[in-house]
Amino acid sequence: MPAMDLRLESPLDMHLHLREGEMLTLVAPYSAAQMAGGVIMPNLVAPVDSLARVREYRAAIEAACDPHVFTPYMTLFFRDYIREELVAAKDEIIGVKLYPAGITTQSEAGVRDFDRIGATVALLEELDIPLLVHGETAGFVMDREEEFLAVYRWLAETFPRLRIVMEHITTAAAVEFLEKYDTIAATVTLHHLLITLDDVAGGLLRPDLFCKPIAKTPRDRKALRQAVFAGPPRLMFGSDSAPHPRDRKECVGCAAGIFSAPVALPALAGLFEEAGCLERLDGFVSANARRFYRLTPPAKTVRLEEKDWQVPEFFGSVRPFLAGSRLRWSVAAASLAEE
Ligand code: DOR
Ligand code: ZN
Repeated sequence: MPAMDLRLESPLDMHLHLREGEMLTLVAPYSAAQMAGGVIMPNLVAPVDSLARVREYRAAIEAACDPHVFTPYMTLFFRDYIREELVAAKDEIIGVKLYPAGITTQSEAGVRDFDRIGATVALLEELDIPLLVHGETAGFVMDREEEFLAVYRWLAETFPRLRIVMEHITTAAAVEFLEKYDTIAATVTLHHLLITLDDVAGGLLRPDLFCKPIAKTPRDRKALRQAVFAGPPRLMFGSDSAPHPRDRKECVGCAAGIFSAPVALPALAGLFEEAGCLERLDGFVSANARRFYRLTPPAKTVRLEEKDWQVPEFFGSVRPFLAGSRLRWSVAAASLAEE
């Protein structure tokens, strides 16, 4: 059979950590080469929590992505904001990202008391700025996401016009919950479609697979896959690609985060192909996000070809997801230059 080509129109990564400084320079080109844009997480060492910080960070990202065509959709780190701040920022951000305090990497400045967020959330609703949420409680690690659904319910019912994104959902319960409110969308990562807790900790411990939310049970993974392959309109791809250098992963106190950006589209194509639904990939990696967020990303056709390659063990100091494995699809060289 002749090798096949797959063309994706303006693929988007709706949840992406690009970091700053040398790490930004190292990792940004892998996203910029295969995506038309991405939603940039604001959890830098000093959170991106002002318009000045958004502008400064966007400029650094654009420099790191040059010469690729790639739009960084910027987010503000949730804190108490006044109306004027959000009005000024509205046209330069895609949303505001809420982290519960201390729940994951660099989230210390996050929300400590959910009883006190109402005023800022009401402004987001009024100004039609989406709220992106890391939805985990401080409960038992396997139960955190399901426990947090009560907060999503409260948000959806108290602020009925607010667009809410449940970031990186990992459970059957979250998949089921998503159907209840059409103001709520969700992102799903590549790694949560592929691994369970067994891969992380069932054999020798795998720090490269340690992330938040932690990978769950086979039943949860099955529910996620079924949902994604069925192609519902409010499920979007967000890699949550979150690079950490080797010395922060292979140590006592391993940082949470999986660096999946270099393998994102090739691995997704393999997964959708195996499931017999390659025609649904476009909805997951682009159309659903465009509709929910009302985006017009840059026109950029990314071509994948059936050409196998071996994922390197390291990119600089960072071990990528699926390091050492062979993938059937690769991003065609021509699309790297945006021809
Ligand atoms: O595993 C994770 N890593 N989950 C997050 O929520 C944050 C991310 C990071 O920034 O490293
Ligand atoms: Zn994240």
